[in-house]
Amino acid sequence: MRESVTESPNRAAAPNLSAIEKVEQQVPGPREERPPVEGRSAAYDSDLLRAARREPVSRTPVWFMRQAGRALPEYRKVRAGIPMLESCMRPDLVTEITLQPVRRYGVDAAVFFSDIVLPLKAIGVDLEIKPDVGPVIANPVRDFAGLEQIRPLDPDADLWFVTEAVRQLVGELGPKPLIGFGGAPFTVASYLIEGGPSKNLEKTKAMMLGAPELFAALLDRLADLTAGFLRVQIEAGASIVQLFDSWVGALSPRDYQRYVMPHSAKVLAAVADLGVPRIHFGVGTGELLPLMAAAGADVVGVDWRVPLDEASRRIGPGYAVQGNLDPAVIFAPWPAIETRVREVLREGAQAPGHIFNLGHGVMPEMDPDTLARVVELVHEASAR
Ligand code: CP3
Repeated sequence: MRESVTESPNRAAAPNLSAIEKVEQQVPGPREERPPVEGRSAAYDSDLLRAARREPVSRTPVWFMRQAGRALPEYRKVRAGIPMLESCMRPDLVTEITLQPVRRYGVDAAVFFSDIVLPLKAIGVDLEIKPDVGPVIANPVRDFAGLEQIRPLDPDADLWFVTEAVRQLVGELGPKPLIGFGGAPFTVASYLIEGGPSKNLEKTKAMMLGAPELFAALLDRLADLTAGFLRVQIEAGASIVQLFDSWVGALSPRDYQRYVMPHSAKVLAAVADLGVPRIHFGVGTGELLPLMAAAGADVVGVDWRVPLDEASRRIGPGYAVQGNLDPAVIFAPWPAIETRVREVLREGAQAPGHIFNLGHGVMPEMDPDTLARVVELVHEASAR
């Protein structure tokens, strides 16, 4: 496609170009009069990236967190008998699973199929994702010796399969954006410290307050790890990224600012030079929204507890917002869903940019047809 060629000088698109097109890219011409296209992907002018940059859109872009997964029968089929983290390391499988929800739902973006703990696995941390439980760590981090499990990432050796899958995907997706993602230091640390999922994060908070130097050293290592994971995805062609700090809503603004925000800011700053928009998301973060924006986001992800117009008011005009249909609404009768979708669109329109999403992830019990219908409604109701 002509447009994706001219708009794709990044490394990911290069292997898809013919020799002639490559030469054409170097030929001086009208393109030289345009602003520098460094970092621009085929997806640059998509509604999703335009909304993230707070530019006008043809209609509100929509995708769903955790859109790939068990709600889809075709996912359950290809995953049968393959452990979760192993499936993340097979590029062909990752590509297929990432594309499944794009075909099914008609969403405006694909989100890379992987997991926030995948980089830990890639550097040799002994862990698995147990079905219906979540990440379980063999040797939880409780002291400085435990930190040695978190060695520096060697992107080429440790994450080659990510690079390969992202390149395949970007080739398939053309102008549709691929969203890369990573886990924020606090949320990843919570699994490492607790040893698995935890409701109240007691051990995590105990370390944060009782051994702040250890806690900071752990989060610093995790910041580097996630930054490396994000850079690999962006350099291979992901055109926007999301930093998931899913469980950070457990903290007060004071503790967030003191113990966590500097590490998340380090991650977001570490990819700033690559020029792709950064979405920063957590659950239960109503009181943290301005800090999460200030940490270095372009878009702030909002759960369903705070209306988007109010969220936008809290973070100010310099940021787009993402969200925030209560996932539980998907289980209600259609007229109730329709009312709520229109409400989210109305409130989102008050922000300088809006990406429609659920307030948290898709659940396995959701009806794929309902999700597809939501996408259709968002597009219809928001068409400019
Ligand atoms: O969004 C997508 O479609 C991309 C894939 C994706 C997965 N995990 C795949 C996955 C993404 C973006 C994640 C991020 C992730 N992983 C988060 C942040 C997002 C959020 O929901 O807050 C967190 C906290 C994790 C850790 C994790 N991994 C949990 C809590 C679980 C669920 C355990 C369960 O079985 O309910 C996982 C496993 C996981 N990661 C699944 C998927 C599709 C389900 C397991 C499976 O399909 O076998």
